[in-house]
Amino acid sequence: MRSAPQPVPRAPEPVVAGTREIEVTPCPNGPLLVRGADAVRDADGRAHQVTRPVVAVCACDKSQRLPWCDGTHKVIPRK
Ligand code: FES
Repeated sequence: MRSAPQPVPRAPEPVVAGTREIEVTPCPNGPLLVRGADAVRDADGRAHQVTRPVVAVCACDKSQRLPWCDGTHKVIPRK
């Protein structure tokens, strides 16, 4: 049985860091897609270098590779 589609959150305004624009796009029931960042800080304040144009940051806090999404959000029950 399929559940009702979840509303798609509105994308926040891009954040401008220095002269660069960083875009964060929330995926419904999934990660945050971050474009244009040099680093992402985890909950403990540690910086993780970004080496790709787009990275998926875990928003469910269940990933085994925090702060990155490892797909675990796909197997955890939705509320
Ligand atoms: S959002 Fe994908 S594992 Fe958390």
